[in-house]
Amino acid sequence: MTGPESEGPVLRRAVCPGSFDPVTNGHLDIIARASKLYDVVHVAVMINKSKKGIFSVEERLDLIRGVTAEYGNVEVEAFHGLLVDFCKQRDIPAIVKGLRAVSDFDYELQMAQMNHGLSGVETLFVPTNPTYSFLSSSLVKEVAAWGGDVSHLVPGPVLEALTERLAER
Ligand code: PNS
Repeated sequence: MTGPESEGPVLRRAVCPGSFDPVTNGHLDIIARASKLYDVVHVAVMINKSKKGIFSVEERLDLIRGVTAEYGNVEVEAFHGLLVDFCKQRDIPAIVKGLRAVSDFDYELQMAQMNHGLSGVETLFVPTNPTYSFLSSSLVKEVAAWGGDVSHLVPGPVLEALTERLAER
């Protein structure tokens, strides 16, 4: 599809939002799959000031940028505010989310309906790879904090950062 000459081609954009504290192989799987479906995938690290993370927002951005660099069409940034405002400001019509299990569906459906009602932005659900259906950033942090092996659940640079951060504590 091509727009007016001065505007260049119309790019199909989607956003993969999250806290990403830290990014896991489950997140990466969804981002990689979205990057094949859309021209540009925006990864939005949503800032929630009431949730203190193990990694700062800057650290999360660096880790995600490092592990998504190979895709070539992924843009990573932080945002403080409503996801629909992030979408509006960048002309993004679609949110892509992974669904791990039925238990995710209830809250995800509420958010999807709220976001659509607020702005018309659509949410598309991608079934998580079953290998990662139990995986969450919280569980990774908990298992790693108790010395469990999470090397198969997070990308190498995240494992290094996590090991270093936990050793400081
Ligand atoms: O990785 P998470 O913490 O499960 O991601 C949840 C997130 C950040 C996608 C969600 O809380 C969100 O969209 N927050 C931004 C604020 C917002 O738009 N809230 C209204 C949601 S209907």
